[in-house]
Amino acid sequence: MRSATAALASAALVVVFGTALGGRCLTRSFGHGSVVCVCDARQCGALEDLRASPGPAAEDGSSAPFTIFTSSKAGMRLDRAEGNFTNGYATAGTKVGDKDDDGDDYDEGLEDGKTEQLLWSRGRVRIAVDVATQYQTVDGFGGAITDSAAINIHRLQPDVRDVLMRALFAPEGNAYTMLRVPMGGTDDSLRKYTYADSPGDMALQRFRLAEEDIKYKIPVLLNASRMTGGETRVIASAWTAPPWMKTTDQFVGGVLRRDLYQLWADYHVRFLSEYAQRGVAVWALTSGNEPINAFFTPLLIRFNSMGWTPLQQRRWLGRHLGPALRRSPFNATKLLALDDQRMLLPWWLDIVFRDPTVRDLVDGVAVHWYWDIVDPRIGLEATHQHFPEKFIISTEASSADKPWDLVKVQLGSWTRGEKYMTDILKDMNAWVTGWMEWSLVLDTQGGPSWSRNYVDVGVMVDHARQEVLLQPTYYAMAHFSRFVPRGSRRVRLQVERADLSPAGEDQPDEQGLSGRAQVDATAFVTPRDDVVLVLHNSGDSDTSVSIRDPRVGVARVVLPARSFNTLVYSGAERGADEASGEAESSGAGAGDSSESESEADGAGAAGASTEADGADAAGTSTEAGGPAGASTDADAVGASTEADGAGAVGTSTETDGTVAEGTSTEAGGPAGASTEADAAGASTEEETERVRRQRKEI
Ligand SMILES: *[C@@H]1O[C@H](CO)[C@@H](O)[C@H](O)[C@H]1NC(C)=O
Ligand SMILES: *[C@@H]1O[C@H](CO)[C@@H](O)[C@H](O)[C@H]1NC(C)=O
Ligand SMILES: *[C@@H]1O[C@H](CO)[C@@H](O)[C@H](O)[C@H]1NC(C)=O
Repeated sequence: MRSATAALASAALVVVFGTALGGRCLTRSFGHGSVVCVCDARQCGALEDLRASPGPAAEDGSSAPFTIFTSSKAGMRLDRAEGNFTNGYATAGTKVGDKDDDGDDYDEGLEDGKTEQLLWSRGRVRIAVDVATQYQTVDGFGGAITDSAAINIHRLQPDVRDVLMRALFAPEGNAYTMLRVPMGGTDDSLRKYTYADSPGDMALQRFRLAEEDIKYKIPVLLNASRMTGGETRVIASAWTAPPWMKTTDQFVGGVLRRDLYQLWADYHVRFLSEYAQRGVAVWALTSGNEPINAFFTPLLIRFNSMGWTPLQQRRWLGRHLGPALRRSPFNATKLLALDDQRMLLPWWLDIVFRDPTVRDLVDGVAVHWYWDIVDPRIGLEATHQHFPEKFIISTEASSADKPWDLVKVQLGSWTRGEKYMTDILKDMNAWVTGWMEWSLVLDTQGGPSWSRNYVDVGVMVDHARQEVLLQPTYYAMAHFSRFVPRGSRRVRLQVERADLSPAGEDQPDEQGLSGRAQVDATAFVTPRDDVVLVLHNSGDSDTSVSIRDPRVGVARVVLPARSFNTLVYSGAERGADEASGEAESSGAGAGDSSESESEADGAGAAGASTEADGADAAGTSTEAGGPAGASTDADAVGASTEADGAGAVGTSTETDGTVAEGTSTEAGGPAGASTEADAAGASTEEETERVRRQRKEI
């Protein structure tokens, strides 16, 4: 039997510290905050199948294993650590006479699930997982096979190309299953073209796929499909109709001629047929890339575009594309509206779906991330509320798209990785079913791009050195795509922060430090019943997080400063007799109070403040509440993972991208120390000291 001390000491804390920068990854710094992982023909440390389930709980229910993977600004890349969830009853072998810090018999404390409570209360951020409450089903993650992406892939030597393809699509890589393919040219092409560039080709007699399709994109799509075991889903979007079909006779800007609405619909069906003949089944068509762009031409947008107003889009979908598609052999192809910035939600769809025929014909909504900074996610929630039967999918993201982004490619930028991570988390917490990057592979200039619209993405290739550079953005996606397969369901989380006052204000700890915990989270249950939490510590301090699932107990982990984390455990039920002890007891306040006081004292003496448990003593642990006007569970959950304070003050403001200025208040060394699943052998003196105190207290 394990003693209570052992339970706390060995199972309480997993300190996630990497042993070496990047683990197996060969890293390189370009001076943009973090590193890239370099792959070439000889090696690629990024390739490892991480999908194995940690397995079920111990037979006696005493412990349930979890695995946590961490990538950090300091250089960890999917580094692995292991630990156990613990439940109070497992420690019942403690010898009688042990006193806990209230002077009660320890065994008595155990009746209340004491060990769990200790673990739980010591998390600076506490996350309760509620797998019974489920939301949207995941479609998957991926990006666009543009001409540029496919040409970049093609230009690599075969063995390097193979490494890159595996990094994107294979189970040992990012396992991308959602691919967007442009119909014709885009800004990420070598030239402007469509498939019917002969003016007046009213019967599409000269419709031809391009060399870009046949030679570059389709081979990538076919290989990707093979690598994912046929799981690939392709979403096709046109950037513009042939110039002669438009009011302006230009590739850039203008709208479709009203008399050619049907021809443009037929063009889409023809495309589906051409791709099908070459072995590529298209899963969905969008209504066309970023229709709003056409109205900003040529001031801001200098690449292929065609405008729709919501009324025009409604007419074309309802009277032309929708019916043509449903009459065709490709009648199962899904139709997605909008395919533009989410700040247009729900306004755009309120207009498009006012026609019930159109609402019936359209399956979902495609959104882009570029202006998410001005959209505090409300549009997604409203869209779901107005049209709960539509799925929402994010079909484009890349960095440095703005004119004021002067340095387009910033290899190794952690900030850009964090922007992806933040956006995916927020999208997932607001009904989005999948998330796609723009061009999946660009060169180190951010192209090629005929329109010189260079951007920064997750996988960059250095053709001269025949190297593949995997960026922090690639890892931001990896933390989802490698662990959250299609068919996973998002589940409810309740997030509390120990360092928030009831007013939602930043609460200084006993030393006056106010390094604020900045941990955002989302969670899923996979088809094989694993629970996957994705945790983003965007703060500059290491932060302890307690995670509780009534089915397996409580785990506590320390997330390194500026880190992405994926924690996986099996959700298989353990013995039913445990259930009653799991409820968070109302006595938590009292227990925590004395616990935190003694810990605070000890900490003071040792000169090392460990955690902000003082907040508990003041009874300030706040449940995150919903944003203004929140009425559904989903809102509350979403809000709870948003910026600090949103819940308590009842607003829905977010603070995208803010990073705590606070000083580290956590025990622990800089990321880069050794991985520790055993607090007794913890990597810092403070941690050892703290554990010693805990033992004394127990
Ligand atoms: C988790 O618990 C099991 C069973 O008690 C034990 O064998 C294993 O070593 C523990 N794992 C860790 C990482 O502590
Ligand atoms: C596709 O796979 C074949 C066979 O393995 C390989 O020869 C070819 O280079 C691959 N092409 C791409 C673009 O991945
Ligand atoms: C779709 O087309 C197939 C044959 O191509 C047909 O059997 C099926 O009924 C059609 N479905 C709908 C909803 O029209």
